[in-house]
Amino acid sequence: MKAIHQKLYSWYSRHGRHDLPWRNSNDPYHIYLSEVMLQQTQVQTVLERYYFPFLEKFPTLQALAEASLDEVLKMWEGLGYYTRAGNLHKTAQLTAPSLPDSYEALLALPGIGKNTASAICAFAYRQKRAVMEANVRRVLCRIYALDEPKETELIEKAHALLDEAHPFDYNQAMMDLGAMVCTPRDPACDVCAFAPICRACALECYDFPVKKRRSVPLRKEIVVVQICEEKIALKQRSGRFLHGLWGFAASQEARGEYVGRVRHQYTHFKLENEVYVAFGNEVSSQMFTLDEIRTLALSTVDRKILQLLERAGFTSRL
Ligand code: ADE
Repeated sequence: MKAIHQKLYSWYSRHGRHDLPWRNSNDPYHIYLSEVMLQQTQVQTVLERYYFPFLEKFPTLQALAEASLDEVLKMWEGLGYYTRAGNLHKTAQLTAPSLPDSYEALLALPGIGKNTASAICAFAYRQKRAVMEANVRRVLCRIYALDEPKETELIEKAHALLDEAHPFDYNQAMMDLGAMVCTPRDPACDVCAFAPICRACALECYDFPVKKRRSVPLRKEIVVVQICEEKIALKQRSGRFLHGLWGFAASQEARGEYVGRVRHQYTHFKLENEVYVAFGNEVSSQMFTLDEIRTLALSTVDRKILQLLERAGFTSRL
């Protein structure tokens, strides 16, 4: 394994993404935040729009713990998978001023699964833990030609390859190898450190793990936007889905003026909203001016509905 690790580091030192801010930080909170953001989001999106503004607003775990959930969700707006933000906030409240440094204690916290706990241990505390995100998972499945691996099997394989003396560099290098060399299509096996032991490379077949084709259902909803006395009605979602975010309520039936359709693709379903506007004179406590709405955290689909209303001229008088 020593020769493989050497080759991995020599590739990583030349081609790795060394300037990622969370790779140049020893602060467990910064590393934890990056891992949570990166769970379902591309590095570029996290880097360009979310990581720095979030840290500017909540520079420490203590500052995050003291914030309101509304403030946290506002900084998460558009990033999706909003339970991540709620769990981050709960974990901050449970642990501030500092995160625990043991794998087991981390694992017991809201929203921290095996992979996030391993990443915090390896990156913040330099412990012997193998990290697994989507790219590393593909690398492992190819090395061992695994079609449908169980999570425990993958974790065991990942630890068999780990360079225990250098958990930080090894894990960061593996992620970059997965992202840049062992790519989904046309992997560059000629520069890959694992080529000598890789089953997929020997087979010249890279379809590991087998891809499951999922057809996602289409969910259609009617949204009647209530406008009254220059304010718009919104409700704060209380269920699991988009919990804590503000948005337009779905209606049983259409009424008012038809405005258009808005679509959004989630992981497990497609949402299509048919949007209507109804002007009324019933003012509830949950009515907001446009300026107030700008300060609230809305989901992407609700922002799309707002844009639709703006483009159709319904908000020009508000
Ligand atoms: N995805 C999860 N953790 C990451 C990291 N440290 N660098 C790049 N991508 C990641």
